[in-house]
Formats: sequence, C-alpha cells, structure tokens
Amino acid sequence: MGSGQWLMAKRASFRSDSFLDNENVPETGCLSIVVLGASGDLAKKKTFPALFNLYSQGFLTSNDVHIFGYARTKISDDQLRNRIRGCLTSSKEEEVSEFLQLIKYVSGSYDTDEGFQLLDKEISEHEFSKNSVEVSSRRLFYLALPPSVYPSVCRMIKQCCMDKSNLGGWTRIVVEKPFGKDLASAEELSDQIGELFDESQIYRIDHYLGKELVQNLLVIRFANRFFMPLWNRDNIDNVQIVFREDFGTDGRGGYFDEYGIIRDIIQNHLLQVLSLVAMEKPVSLKPEHIRDEKVKVLQSVLPINDEDVVLGQYDGYRDDPTVPDHSNTPTFATVVLHIHNERWEGVPFILKAGKALSSRKAEIRVQFKDVPGDIFKCRKQGRNEIVIRLQPSEAIYMKLAVKQPGLEMSTVQSELDLSYSQRYQNVIIPEAYERLILDTIRGDQQHFVRRDELKAAWEIFTPLLHRIDNGEMKPLAYKPGSRGPAEADELLAKAGYVQTRGYIWIPPTL
Ligand code: BG6
Repeated sequence: MGSGQWLMAKRASFRSDSFLDNENVPETGCLSIVVLGASGDLAKKKTFPALFNLYSQGFLTSNDVHIFGYARTKISDDQLRNRIRGCLTSSKEEEVSEFLQLIKYVSGSYDTDEGFQLLDKEISEHEFSKNSVEVSSRRLFYLALPPSVYPSVCRMIKQCCMDKSNLGGWTRIVVEKPFGKDLASAEELSDQIGELFDESQIYRIDHYLGKELVQNLLVIRFANRFFMPLWNRDNIDNVQIVFREDFGTDGRGGYFDEYGIIRDIIQNHLLQVLSLVAMEKPVSLKPEHIRDEKVKVLQSVLPINDEDVVLGQYDGYRDDPTVPDHSNTPTFATVVLHIHNERWEGVPFILKAGKALSSRKAEIRVQFKDVPGDIFKCRKQGRNEIVIRLQPSEAIYMKLAVKQPGLEMSTVQSELDLSYSQRYQNVIIPEAYERLILDTIRGDQQHFVRRDELKAAWEIFTPLLHRIDNGEMKPLAYKPGSRGPAEADELLAKAGYVQTRGYIWIPPTL
C-alpha cells in the first residue's frame, strides 16, 4: 500500500469506529482551525504541537486544512512560524516546514470587529480557493486565552466569523479551564457563551480526559467480567485519586495564587477521573449517554465536611514575587468525598493533589476490603489493590498475595502487571491534546465537559472554596520535596486506607 492509500485507509477506519450522534454533519471539505491566543504559551507548547502531530499522522492534510493563528501581538506569519518551530519535535525537517506553511497569522484585538472581519476574510478565501465540489465550511476556534475574554471573543466569532455563504458545515468552539472560580461565576460564563452557541458547539477541554489510561477506564470497567461484580461497596474499601508534582508553581505563581490546588487540579481533573471510576454503566457509548451517567454520580456526592479536608502550603511558596505575602492559597489538598448511592455508600473517595512534593505521578488506587477468614494470616502484609497509573510509566497493576516461591508455605505481596512500555513496545501514546483536538474535528463530545457536569462539579467544591477564600480554613505548612502535611496521611488512615508494608511496585525499565 502506498503512503497516500495508507493514510486514507487509516482516516477511513478511524471514522468508522465512531459512536457519534451527529453522523449527518459533513466531515469533508475545507477545515479551518483558528488558534486564538496564538502567541501565548499554551498555543506554543500544546496546541500547535498537537496539530503538528495530527498532521504528521495524516489526520490533517494540506488538501483541506488551513490553520490560522490570531492574537494581539503584531508579528508576521514567519515570526509566528519560527516561534512554533522550536516546540515541534520531529526528525523530519521537511514535514515541519510543510506544516508551518499551513499556518497564517492574523493580528487583532479580542473585542473589536476589525480583526475578526479580517480573520473571516482570510478563512473565506481559503474556503473558496479549494476548487472542489466538496467545499464546505468547517471552522474550529480554539480559545487558548484567559477565560475573562471568552465572552467577547465568542461574540466576535458569532458576529464576524460564522459562515455567511451557507456552504454547509459547522462552527465549533474549544475552551480551556478555568471555567469560572465558583458556581456563580461558572454559571455566568456558561450563560454568556450559551447565548451565542449551542451546547453541541462548545467543547470544554479537561486534558485529563485525553489521557490514555483515563480513556481506558470505561473499557476496563465495562468490558471485563472480572471487575463488574467487585466494583462496589461490598468489596471496595476506599478509592484514592492522586496527583503529585515534584515542582512548585514554576513561574505561574500569579495565576496559581488566584486559583489554588483545588480549582487547578481537584475540582476538574481529579473529579472527572472520579466520575469515570464511579459512574454506572451507560446505555451505550454515545457521548450523551456517557455524560448522563457522569453527571448523575457527581450529583450524588454529599457536601464536604471540614474534618474531611487537609490543606497545605509549601514553605517558600510566598517567596515568589507574584504571590502575596499573606497568601492563604493551598498548594496541597486532601479531600474525602462520599457518594450517596447504592453502589458507593460508605466508600470514601480520597482526592489528593499537591505541588512541590517528593515525586511526580498521577494514579487511581482502588483498595479492596480484607479477605474474611484469613487462614494465611497475611492480612498485615496488605490488601488487594488495583492501581491505574496515569503517568508517568502508564500501567495497570493488581496487588495480590501469592505464595512465596520456595519450600516454605508463606505469603508475599506481588502484582499482576500491565506496564504499557513493556506490553506495547513501539506504540506511541498520543498526547492528550492531540486526541481532544481530533475529537473536536470529528464532533465527538464524549471526552469534553458538559455544562451540567461543570455545574455539578462546582456545586461540590464551592462551599469549601468560599471558606478557604474567606480565611476560615488555613493551609498547614509542609516542606518542599516531602509527602505534604503529616495530617493528610492521618486523614488517609482515618478514611480506611491501609498502607502495604515492605512492598514497592517498580516500573519496568527496558
Ligand atoms: C494543569 C494545571 O491543568 O495541569 C497545572 O493547571 C498542572 O498546574 C497540569 O501542572 C498537570 O498536567 P499533566 O498533564 O502534566 O499532569
């Protein structure tokens, strides 16, 4: 098969795998991808590299795609291309240059017509330059911008950049967190954007939903007979969803201090993971069916008690000149959530996130109850656990007791280990942003946050966040490079988590 045929076959098989609602929406013809905030960090480090990876795998082709960068900075096409070039990792210099040639830059403000009219003109010219019967207008606007400008930018897009020639096609808007600071501000933002675009046009990115092992959760849970009968309060003692970073706010102190670890990580990334771990089986794989179940589980979370929360702030955080001297912002939090439904009543879901800790990892740890009638007296060695390691070293491993090999009849903790680097050698795991942009092009909203999900997420955390903002709850100091405040480990033990003694899982090295 020639490389052209291979790419076409790959694209075709990719489409036929879809479980989408909107099968009638045209997916051929011109595609214009507009990156707003093109000169910023997010665009440079995440959006353009993701687009490049899609291009190099044949999902975007120069026959039908044009990419537009838009920002206030006055730079030329080539200046933008040179900025992006440094962030693209590829050994194929020619491919990089071809990709960069697809990018055009338009400069303008975020709240006046002129720039957006110019942008519309450029997009339309591109659409008409394609002298094919398949001309249609597929316009994807990626807002790599602070949310404060979302309403005005959306208004401008609606006013100036919607397809006026009725070529057929679609307009989709991709937005990034933070979606507001609490329930009221998030709802206000949703109202403002919702007045302009239908929910089906809005793609709220939570990049954790684009991670390989997060996407695997539905398959693990609902395609395996093993787990179905075990996944409930009768067998599971507690669930932990953990995010740890071994660096501090890293030059983002100003942004971070306004939000804190709960808004930055827990209310979105970890809660999204929780909803996939805890939801009921959806009716089908249609995005709306999946999101319906996610919403239900979020709506079943009980209000958070103060005694189920430990907050921390690492020593030295306030030395950052962009952080106020008396900041009360937590850089670490452990929060225990309780889900009030038939499956989960009595099972604590422990969400833990921290900056400047001893290691960098994100994982889900499902700990089972003790074996009743412990004839081997191995209870003290530890419990069964399923660990889903999201990063680094993606893996799923099950901790279990086995006979210590040898002449003695004694038990030891071991694991059944599906380590991706070993099992899927030579498979490149795509970046979260790459998948999510591709989903947007396909019109698949499964891995995006629906408005009612967002609302339910804010409902859970808003009262706690207000208490922290008002100074009613204070973070405890912890040493950078530590596990966080000791009180967090005490809370973990109180929630029922039993630490395994003398066992450590070692990621394979190849
Ligand atoms: C972002 C947060 O959403 O996620 C950052 O704003 C954090 O503070 C980042 O560092 C972590 O993402 P990842 O994919 O590296 O785990």
